[in-house]
Amino acid sequence: ILAQVSAKKGQTFHFGSTYDTYDADQSWFTSIFTTFYRHVVSENGCKWDATEPTQGASDLTECLATHTFATSNGNTFRGHNTFWHSQTPSWLPGSFSASEVTGTIIPQHVQQEIEGMGPSVTSWDVVNEVVGDGVSSGMTALQCVQNKGDWPTVTADGSGKPLVTDLSFIYAAFNTAYTYAGNTTRLAVNEYNTGGQDAKTACILSLIQNIQQNTNIPYNRLAVGFQSHLTASTGGFYTKQALATTFSTLAALGVNSMITEMDIAVNADNTANLRYQAAIWGDYLDACLYASNCNEFINWDPRDDLSWRGTSAAATLFDSSGNPKPAAYEVAARL
Ligand code: XIL
Repeated sequence: ILAQVSAKKGQTFHFGSTYDTYDADQSWFTSIFTTFYRHVVSENGCKWDATEPTQGASDLTECLATHTFATSNGNTFRGHNTFWHSQTPSWLPGSFSASEVTGTIIPQHVQQEIEGMGPSVTSWDVVNEVVGDGVSSGMTALQCVQNKGDWPTVTADGSGKPLVTDLSFIYAAFNTAYTYAGNTTRLAVNEYNTGGQDAKTACILSLIQNIQQNTNIPYNRLAVGFQSHLTASTGGFYTKQALATTFSTLAALGVNSMITEMDIAVNADNTANLRYQAAIWGDYLDACLYASNCNEFINWDPRDDLSWRGTSAAATLFDSSGNPKPAAYEVAARL
């Protein structure tokens, strides 16, 4: 059925979830990734701490194993991520100057990971979560990134001060990714709490244009990943119209849109909440299916007991026994 969706969109539609080899219940994984999810992202195995545990030494063991799991089950694979302030190797924080980080450490890491994983990766999150939460409208891309409070973990020189005086570290990551990625692999900025018409989403829109202007990477090779970690009771999610507006703004530039880490925490004691969860999931998937530029949709964690939100958040499509919840039916009806 995904093939029919793809035919209508004129581009392959990738629908999937997270996987790592150490996840429990491998037989369930094999069955669900051959019947429902058809696209794999490694939940933790391609992050910086896993892939460069010693400076300069590439270790793609887990990342490659998730790629092998994908291809051996007929799935496609996307890469998450080459640069993030979190889950960094212990050798990294605090010890290097900004010019070493930008000139050597980032390019070396991005090259060894992207080149090492080969060209058959649909998209890479080249930078993950680089925009702050306290941004306001009208900020420049640089101000948006400087607003990121977690930032000094990676780029401080030991003085504890943020060293983001320009965006050259982001351009370095993208330039390297463009050099070593497959020639259809999309190169993404990935971010949470984005998707509608608000200051943080505006930051992402200006950042992606800024990256294009400073790297000359064609717009159609760039992408924005909207993580979409939601909580039903507190709101903060977007209507499908709001998402569609953002996706079409990106489409007008030629930039791809993706839903990259969807989960929705709910109080599962209440059946109505599970219906609500299903409705929100359906809206996000609709927005992506109807957009000309949205071809990847990832559910973060395939079932409740494996979710980083906690089992009781009931934030995924399948319950802890692996049975489909209302949201899984809602999604399946669209595919
Ligand atoms: C989470 C994983 O799901 C957890 O297993 C891990 O302990 C922490 O990271 N945004 C991201 C993902 O980009 O990489 C995070 O994944 C969830 C938030």
